Amino acid sequence: MQQKLHFLCYPIKKELKQSVLFFTLLLTSIVFYNFLQPTSLHYIDLLSQIPHNKNHLCSTCDYSYGKWVWDETQPDERYSEKCPFLDPGFQCEKNGRHDLGYQKWRWQPEGCNLPRFDAKDFLQRSQNGRIVVAGDSIGRNQWESLLCMLAQGVSNQSTIYEEHGNPITKHKGILSIRFEEYNLTIQYYRVPYLVARDRPPQSAPKEVRGVVRIDKLHWFSTKWVGADVLVFSAGHWWNQDKTIKSGYYFQEGDNVNMSMDVMEAFRRSLETLKQWVMHNLEPQKSHVFFRSYSPVHFREREWSKGGYCNTSTEPETDQTNLDPEPPNNKFIYEAVQQMQGAMRMVQFLNITYLTDFRKDGHPSSNREPGTPVNAPEDCSHWCLPGVPDTWNELLYAQLLTMGFRTKPL
Ligand SMILES: *[C@@H]1O[C@H](CO)[C@@H](O)[C@H](O)[C@H]1NC(C)=O
Ligand SMILES: *[C@@H]1O[C@H](CO)[C@@H](O)[C@H](O)[C@H]1NC(C)=O
Ligand SMILES: *[C@@H]1O[C@H](CO)[C@@H](O)[C@H](O)[C@H]1NC(C)=O
Ligand SMILES: *[C@@H]1O[C@H](CO)[C@@H](O)[C@H](O)[C@H]1NC(C)=O
Ligand SMILES: *[C@@H]1O[C@H](CO)[C@@H](O)[C@H](O)[C@H]1NC(C)=O
Repeated sequence: MQQKLHFLCYPIKKELKQSVLFFTLLLTSIVFYNFLQPTSLHYIDLLSQIPHNKNHLCSTCDYSYGKWVWDETQPDERYSEKCPFLDPGFQCEKNGRHDLGYQKWRWQPEGCNLPRFDAKDFLQRSQNGRIVVAGDSIGRNQWESLLCMLAQGVSNQSTIYEEHGNPITKHKGILSIRFEEYNLTIQYYRVPYLVARDRPPQSAPKEVRGVVRIDKLHWFSTKWVGADVLVFSAGHWWNQDKTIKSGYYFQEGDNVNMSMDVMEAFRRSLETLKQWVMHNLEPQKSHVFFRSYSPVHFREREWSKGGYCNTSTEPETDQTNLDPEPPNNKFIYEAVQQMQGAMRMVQFLNITYLTDFRKDGHPSSNREPGTPVNAPEDCSHWCLPGVPDTWNELLYAQLLTMGFRTKPL
């Protein structure tokens, strides 16, 4: 077994540093008292090689915090818009976007580097496996990015195909891409709420047009069992407009609760997901991620009222313009922590802060062919190649720190 763990360093708190120093001294003195013989000189030599100081403790890195840096070399290593797995809505250049600077920014975490995204390595580790991405259309955005990034590691592109010959579009609920050379399947499931959406029960009041059943996971979940990597996300459908204001209320058991608010419903749906994860996945096999909220950038007005982002050609530079942490993240983070109690390989994929800078990365007015001219701008999805590639770099990095299916020699 060749472990390919990445030992990274990041700043540690002073108290921790002091206690590490204390124990090092303690151990050293014990060693000196008990074992100091001529042959131990070698050991002393080793000790002297331990770096002094350092505000750093080698450990896993917090990739969520840092800054965007301009990097001319960026597109060389990346896929292009010609990647066959991109749906028309994300091909911004093809849809008329001329400023392509959005492809040239690289995320630089503070205090450490992201490991280079090595498509071949990722594919080898995933061999004979299955990766599931389940969520709303922003999840599909990330899934398409992952496909294109991994396809870079395959020489014969004809060996990658949709299992049922389906085109990659937003109109399909399930899409399943085979990487034949690696016997690997990478799937997308459209589940905007993760839990089930349904017709109202007969007893429900008239104003109820439909329900979101917060204690019942979407039936697609039966197909997620046994996956090696699962990436969940949710958020963009958990708002007033798409639920209560559209006549969609929250149901628990047989009861439609007319007063439950959206964030409470979201919290409870995560409880449902948590129970499912703990009862249906093998703790030693499945690596589970929950991606944090992907910020939107509608300026001036809401999306439906002419909000726009097509004047942004560079990331935000003024941190005071960033949004406060969305409440979704707190609930996701808590759910992940609770799952970690039972399953070691569950992680929070925190991309909100880095993504919030990228008001320049949306399709904006460069909508896919066939979109009516007066349609709202798209300031919630992402052009590809683009920002979701960085999410997948973080995903890869976090998989490595978990020792994801370490390759045999
Ligand atoms: C996500 O990352 C940002 C940047 O490091 C941090 O400020 C925020 O608290 C994190 N969110 C959660 C819920 O941990
Ligand atoms: C492909 O992977 C599956 C597990 O996902 C395994 O059962 C099967 O034996 C593999 N096929 C080959 C040819 O290795
Ligand atoms: C590429 O893969 C396809 C499908 O498996 C196969 O028919 C074709 O011969 C391969 N081409 C090369 C150059 O290996
Ligand atoms: C509806 O949900 C709220 C929490 O948002 C809860 O306090 C209340 O008891 C629920 N009502 C019923 C009838 O279950
Ligand atoms: C932004 O979009 C509006 C229409 O939505 C258009 O009139 C304007 O020219 C666009 N601006 C840029 C800089 O592309």
